[in-house]
Amino acid sequence: MTVDPASVPEFLYGTAWKEERTPALTELALRTGFRGIDTANQRRHYVEAGVGQALAAVYRAGVVTRSELFLQTKFTYQGGQDHRLPYDPAADLTVQVAQSMASSLEHLGTDFVDSYVLHGPASGRGWSDADAEVWAAMTKERDAGRARWLGVSNVSARHLAQMVATGAEPPAFVQNRCFARLGWDHEIRAFCAARGIGYQGFSLLTANSEVLGHPLVARIAAREGATPAQVVFRFARAVGMLPLTGTSSPEHMRQDLASRSLALSDEEARAIESLAA
Ligand SMILES: NC(=O)c1ccc[n+]([C@@H]2O[C@H](COP(=O)([O-])OP(=O)(O)OC[C@H]3O[C@@H](n4cnc5c(N)ncnc54)[C@H](OP(=O)(O)O)[C@@H]3O)[C@@H](O)[C@H]2O)c1
Repeated sequence: MTVDPASVPEFLYGTAWKEERTPALTELALRTGFRGIDTANQRRHYVEAGVGQALAAVYRAGVVTRSELFLQTKFTYQGGQDHRLPYDPAADLTVQVAQSMASSLEHLGTDFVDSYVLHGPASGRGWSDADAEVWAAMTKERDAGRARWLGVSNVSARHLAQMVATGAEPPAFVQNRCFARLGWDHEIRAFCAARGIGYQGFSLLTANSEVLGHPLVARIAAREGATPAQVVFRFARAVGMLPLTGTSSPEHMRQDLASRSLALSDEEARAIESLAA
């Protein structure tokens, strides 16, 4: 099922690594204007229940309603978790997905998420039988109305090719770390573009310090009265990505959203795209 771009916000606020600051920072992001939230039922890196507290607070304050938001969370295999599991590790994977989803909905105070993502395949080598079982279970959750769309994260071109070759329903989203030196994940983005799959990029700043310091980016930033980080986010949108930011800074939250209105020509976008390739 492909995504209707009009129903997805232009930016996702990422809630990883915020621990006890998760409720306050997520609430601030929503009050600043973010309408897309990315989290995971993986206590090791995320406090999903804290995201739920922020949502409850903004609903109560009348800042936004559930229907104006895009909420995304993830199923994480036991190998990516610590001891704080959202499911019974002795249960089969199908049951683990159902338990993790039920726990996410409770944390987030909702009866559906907009996007449910497989945090990462079971193996770096390829799409496995375990992944096929988890994906089928996620599809069941979607069909039951608990998710609108499904996604996969941390995938290679090989994972995606094998997934599709098994006859599995393709994802609506791919969420990957986006390295400029790999042509900004060019191969995966091309796969997504050809199939109407939404590409979500994370670590756009932290993985690409050489781009942030590049004279071309500095020149555009100076012309626009903007920062290099804003130019990178604007570029990401220009080439069809849905960017994530997990900033903890109120100023950076405003800047990241404001990057949407910077001027960037097609030629400049192409030049940035080929900078580090
Ligand atoms: N699927 C996965 O496996 C996976 C993995 C990693 C991340 N994610 C998702 O992606 C989200 C974002 O993570 P990320 O890896 O991209 O890193 P991030 O958490 O967004 O970190 C960005 C870093 O850049 C700094 N920064 C400087 N200027 C900035 C600006 N204008 N805007 C934003 N940041 C600025 C931030 O510092 P300040 O805080 O001071 O701004 C921060 O230290 C996470 O919260 C999570 O939701 C998913």
